[in-house]
Amino acid sequence: MPFTLPPSLLESDEVALVLAFGKLSVLEACALFGRDIQRAEEPVERVSVLHVDHLAPRFLGELSGAHKCGPITEVVEQASSDQPKLVDLLSSHLDEKSNISLSGYGISEDDYEDLVRSMLDGLREKGLRKVRLLRPDGNELLSEQVLARESADVVAFPYHGGFALAPTAWVPDSAKMRQRGTRRPAPHPDIALSPRLARTLVNLAGLAPGQALLDPFCGAGTILVEALAKSLRCLGVDSRASRVQEARENLRWSIGGVTDMGYDIRKGDARDLQRMLRGTKVNGIVTEPLLLPRLDARPKTATAQAMVEEAARVYNDALASMAECIQPDGRIVVVVPAVQTMDGDEVTLTLDGRRVGLRLYQPGPVGFDYPVRLSFESTRWIRRAVYVFEPRS
Ligand SMILES: C[S@@+](CC[C@H](N)C(=O)[O-])C[C@H]1O[C@@H](n2cnc3c(N)ncnc32)[C@H](O)[C@@H]1O
Repeated sequence: MPFTLPPSLLESDEVALVLAFGKLSVLEACALFGRDIQRAEEPVERVSVLHVDHLAPRFLGELSGAHKCGPITEVVEQASSDQPKLVDLLSSHLDEKSNISLSGYGISEDDYEDLVRSMLDGLREKGLRKVRLLRPDGNELLSEQVLARESADVVAFPYHGGFALAPTAWVPDSAKMRQRGTRRPAPHPDIALSPRLARTLVNLAGLAPGQALLDPFCGAGTILVEALAKSLRCLGVDSRASRVQEARENLRWSIGGVTDMGYDIRKGDARDLQRMLRGTKVNGIVTEPLLLPRLDARPKTATAQAMVEEAARVYNDALASMAECIQPDGRIVVVVPAVQTMDGDEVTLTLDGRRVGLRLYQPGPVGFDYPVRLSFESTRWIRRAVYVFEPRS
């Protein structure tokens, strides 16, 4: 787990999280940290502030939908104000040769310049005259760059009428995850979601090592590869024999060529799971059922509605089938499409779990409106949104 500053810093009651997928990333954090999170604010689109009792640093290594995490050390009234607490904290962890950076989210160019100047002035007054300021493109040092340049990075964003300053204490080490997407034998970028999103969805299922996860529309197996990396037992189903073969190849490759260890991929229909599984129940289900036909342009609203209605038949039948084979304490995570139309509307495939004995999953006290929309990951005119269901007890 790459901590860029001591993990003890995260035992703070206000923690800033730079989000990879918007609201979905907040849902992931709440699923992992549960009742430790009392409230979540989103002062700007890319950042959430989690109000926490105690954020056990060991759970951070699990988070996949976050780029950076750090405690809010100071809220300054103006961008040009002194930053005594931040400077104190940084100067106790830096030396003359350190790199530093400020990553601004939702901040104007002028405010960004003022914040950088105040931080540098403060550090100089502390005797750190030669620290090197990295000036990132677009005023954001990406998490990989934070690691590669060994920079003490500070996240800054508008907050409660001023500016919050949160030194980045943790970033994910996503190199291995990226490789799992690009180097696998059957990459299938046309149908596959990114490993980072797949891992976030798997985290939403909240499973422990050794438990069984099913993807009944497994395609090339991206979700299952991430589940296997978390030591889950993987079951995959796809109606196309070629996909079954590809998922097997990708899974075998992901564990270094060992055959059939911890996974079982079968050809079958997601609408008939009970027969396929012979009544066995799984601990979690995570799936992205259908991509709608490839669109060259935004469709008319009526066209989008017709496409979504047709897909909804498969989704609803499959949801009923999934509800039959989930353990009473399991969760079902389903990605649905939200089509952007030429009329400026969004047509979203909606699911009603109550019909089949499911309710919407609400971790802790935050409260989420379903389907939870994803930011920053969409296929041209189709956005993704996510449902998480659990059986009604
Ligand atoms: C969007 S893709 C899944 C992609 C997958 N998440 C990945 O990253 O590789 C949907 C898959 O569902 C399969 N499929 C479509 N209808 C199905 C059905 N009724 N039962 C099982 N699989 C089905 C398709 O063959 C396709 O591979």
